[in-house]
Amino acid sequence: MQLNQIKSKKRRVTPSDKHQLSTSQERCQIHKYLTLNNQNINKSQKYQILDQIGEGSYSTIFIVENKLHGGYYAMKKVLQDPKQINRELEIHMNMNHPHIAPLRDYYYSVENKVKYLHLVMDLYQGNLKNAIRVPLKRVAKQLFQALEYLESQHVMHRDLKPANILYQSGNIYLADFGSSKKMDGSKSLSYVCSRAYRAPELLFGQIFYNTKIDIWAAGCILAELELGKQLFFGQNTVDQIVEICKFLGTPNELEKAELGCQFYIPNLQAKKLSMIFINFVLNQKTDPQLIDLLSKIFIYSPSKRINCNEALKHPYFLS
Ligand SMILES: Nc1ncnc2c1ncn2[C@@H]1O[C@H](COP(=O)(O)OP(=O)(O)OP(=O)(O)O)[C@@H](O)[C@H]1O
Ligand SMILES: [Mg+2]
Repeated sequence: MQLNQIKSKKRRVTPSDKHQLSTSQERCQIHKYLTLNNQNINKSQKYQILDQIGEGSYSTIFIVENKLHGGYYAMKKVLQDPKQINRELEIHMNMNHPHIAPLRDYYYSVENKVKYLHLVMDLYQGNLKNAIRVPLKRVAKQLFQALEYLESQHVMHRDLKPANILYQSGNIYLADFGSSKKMDGSKSLSYVCSRAYRAPELLFGQIFYNTKIDIWAAGCILAELELGKQLFFGQNTVDQIVEICKFLGTPNELEKAELGCQFYIPNLQAKKLSMIFINFVLNQKTDPQLIDLLSKIFIYSPSKRINCNEALKHPYFLS
């Protein structure tokens, strides 16, 4: 159904209408139409909270029922700290990709003088942290496709980890744009991304970085799905650097300069990535092509680290 047909019928758009819309432009128009036309509705009455399904540092996630049009959704209620820049709404509302959880609606509320943003999204069964028997190659492909889209929008996710990748019936949906930032050439905080997924340039405190930090995190996630445990697990930032050096060896002087590393690191020899997988995987050998792909991701130098387009063309995805 087209947007003008919906408008001419002068009735509200139902969630099933939204699912039938095919092109990205249409979905964008619908989102704007819904937002404009729902302004007079008290949204906190529109969505009835049924249950809590998740909790983050600044947010709580609920299952809600849309009392006007029916249907169940996930609602993320995020504390709006006036001292912090919150880009989540602006970035998430402009996302449009089959492997990114779409934002369906939003509204603000004030409770005891504290402001909250409510983000209404499609509801998914779980995330990659609690999913079992994940089809790795399929998930890897979808992840790089979603990241390629982010790259095309000049957006760095900055908090890629299994819990932020929603999962349902063999498909993934990138979520949690709470730390995301559009690349604008300005300085950025290096203290982003959960430690286990933090790229070396972030660990070394680099304030100019790009979407390659998300590629590193994607590599850590894929390795973790294969191994069943985190690949680089340090207790603190220095420990995390040491864990990475144990695998990749100490960065050379050129790499140190690119990473913004200004301190001494003891000399450590690089390990063969394939050995790590052979040691961990019982009764099954990791696909050598996956190991090769990961070896092109776990590269110190962000400029030499593989990008999404190259990753998607890797032989791992050809078979
Ligand atoms: N649309 C959704 N459908 C189902 N579950 C969801 C959805 N969105 C979020 N969740 C669940 O809630 C959890 C927390 O959501 P989210 O990561 O967006 O919040 P957060 O406060 O930014 O979390 P953190 O600070 O821990 O990264 C997710 O890991 C996921 O399990
Ligand atoms: Mg999260």
